Amino acid sequence: MQLRSALIAATLLAACTRSGSGDAPAAASPVSPAATRFVVFVTADLRGQIAPCGCSEAMRGGLGKTAAIIGKTRASGIPAVFVDAGDALFERTGFAADEAVGERRRAQAIADAFRAMRIGAQFSGPLDDALGPDFRRSLALPELGPGQTRLLDAGRWKVGVVSGTSAAELTEAAAKVRASGARFVVALFGAAPAEAQAARGVDLVVAAQAPETVGAEWDDGRLLRGAIPVAQVQSRGRSVLRVDVSPGPQGGPIELARGQGDIERELKAQGQRLDLLRRELGAVGLSPERKRLLDARLHELVLRREQLAAQAQATALQPGTFTVRFVPVEAALPEDPGVQKIIADYDRDVAQLNLAWAKEHGEPCPPPARGEAAYVGSEACRSCHPNPFTVYDKTGHAKAYATLESVQKQYRLDCVACHVVGFQQAGGVCRVDQVDGRQNVGCENCHGPGSIHVVDGTAKSVLRPKPGPNVCVGCHTAENSIHFDYATYLPRVLGPGHGAVVGTATRR
Ligand code: HEC
Ligand code: HEC
Ligand code: HEC
Ligand code: HEC
Repeated sequence: MQLRSALIAATLLAACTRSGSGDAPAAASPVSPAATRFVVFVTADLRGQIAPCGCSEAMRGGLGKTAAIIGKTRASGIPAVFVDAGDALFERTGFAADEAVGERRRAQAIADAFRAMRIGAQFSGPLDDALGPDFRRSLALPELGPGQTRLLDAGRWKVGVVSGTSAAELTEAAAKVRASGARFVVALFGAAPAEAQAARGVDLVVAAQAPETVGAEWDDGRLLRGAIPVAQVQSRGRSVLRVDVSPGPQGGPIELARGQGDIERELKAQGQRLDLLRRELGAVGLSPERKRLLDARLHELVLRREQLAAQAQATALQPGTFTVRFVPVEAALPEDPGVQKIIADYDRDVAQLNLAWAKEHGEPCPPPARGEAAYVGSEACRSCHPNPFTVYDKTGHAKAYATLESVQKQYRLDCVACHVVGFQQAGGVCRVDQVDGRQNVGCENCHGPGSIHVVDGTAKSVLRPKPGPNVCVGCHTAENSIHFDYATYLPRVLGPGHGAVVGTATRR
């Protein structure tokens, strides 16, 4: 009897969700989606990216937005659990003493944000130990060591979360968690995705902590199909993995929905349109009006894609199946106010901490090695080369430090690096409280340190007379200068007085 009514409920649901958005509670229906499914959200390889730097238009990522995505699902009444697959806290290891100050504070903020998002389990990765295991443990996250298991409540079901670095470890943990009543088992895997295929008793593997996820070609994420589906999420919080599970009335296995391919095709088509628009928005020298227009269109398209994806998903999700979706954390999405506050507090604190540290322990930059040049700052070039300044002063490079000040990030080591002259180089900036004469991206960021040249005053002593693309990409990285293209960017830093356009006589 019970079985039969549940079956009817499931059929009703399939019929009514088909037309609606994935998260909208089916008001007209006697059965709400909450009663028939649950969602598992997974982040992976966040690598310390609490929020994007804002260096390019429409940058993806940010825990405030990720929290809002999860919160929206929960607010619609669908039970949703959240877990992290590791390498969340730091981008790398080997921090110097001055860097550790801000890194520690950021890791705390990430842990606080995770808690606000009601994290159910974190499988820590090697990068999470960048400041040592004691510090990691002090963050009091719900850690899940390799081979360990956790049962999370998702409405009337239990989700089993297991972790490990070998298939055998996952198999053993999965058996344990099934025996304790897990209806769906997610494995957080810290090794090559292919190796997870041999695991048994697991419904879905999330492979993380692999170098290949960073800067990977596939953008939002990818799903490898095999004996067990293996998902990989785009790094640095640019997407979050969403798994919708409809366990169905019977206790049988829950399989990847047959309509999964439709969801992927829909997302891909929309994603390509979005990318085109994003590229247009990223073009250098857009007028403010054009930018506003494109911004609005981007916003529209982001919402449209979310709607279409949710529809495709609702159609695909039949009882006894699950669907996998990589939700891009788009700039146009709203922020969760609670997590936003955690990030704002972190921003404020880290500025104070870094400034205090610099005043107390800061050291001037070491002198240059014998025979090598030091940075002297752009003003030292002006007397002999007034003309390039007429061009340079109009570029963004000449106000790069003011840009940081305007967002109160001038005391951030992870920001000043590309927004000042000679960061951590002889004659450059080695403490955030002493930047006089080294603010902004200067002549020497492109031409090389000039102490020898300013004295000798001949062309021979210029380290990089014609800086090429490899110099630019030292700062214009794929992550923060998404649309960088040497051919279109270069002309914007050159012009009459600076560049090949004028003859030698007027150069100086
Ligand atoms: C790896 C080098 C690098 C780092 C680190 C970096 N930036 Fe940038 N930033 C850039 C580059 C390059 C641009 C210009 C990008 C473009 O126009 O394509 C930029 C542009 C910006 C802009 C936009 C300026 C404008 O008016 O258009 C802001 C704001 C900004 N950065 C803030 C930050 C903050 C805040 C941080 C630290 C969280 C940071 N940056 C760290 C390289 C960097
Ligand atoms: C004392 C005067 C003097 C100062 C100061 C000076 N330069 Fe020069 N610079 C010269 C002369 C002279 C040349 C060679 C003639 C020319 O190309 O104009 C030159 C050439 C150059 C060239 C072209 C090299 C080539 O092979 O075409 C670059 C680039 C350059 N300087 C950059 C700088 C930068 C950057 C600074 C500041 C750090 C600087 N200069 C400061 C005198 C100076
Ligand atoms: C030391 C880091 C650094 C290097 C090296 C660098 N840039 Fe930039 N670039 C920046 C930053 C930071 C900004 C954003 C400045 C702002 O608006 O605050 C920027 C902005 C720009 C912009 C857009 C702003 C504008 O002027 O309209 C262009 C174009 C650009 N860079 C071109 C280049 C090219 C071409 C090269 C190499 C020849 C280069 N940059 C090398 C850091 C760098
Ligand atoms: C974003 C990188 C960048 C910055 C910043 C930059 N330059 Fe250049 N500069 C170049 C490039 C690229 C060339 C070579 C152009 C060409 O192909 O002839 C050049 C050429 C020059 C030359 C020799 C050619 C000429 O006709 O002027 C001088 C001198 C020079 N720069 C001085 C300066 C001075 C002084 C500053 C600071 C005010 C400065 N540059 C800032 C990239 C830069």
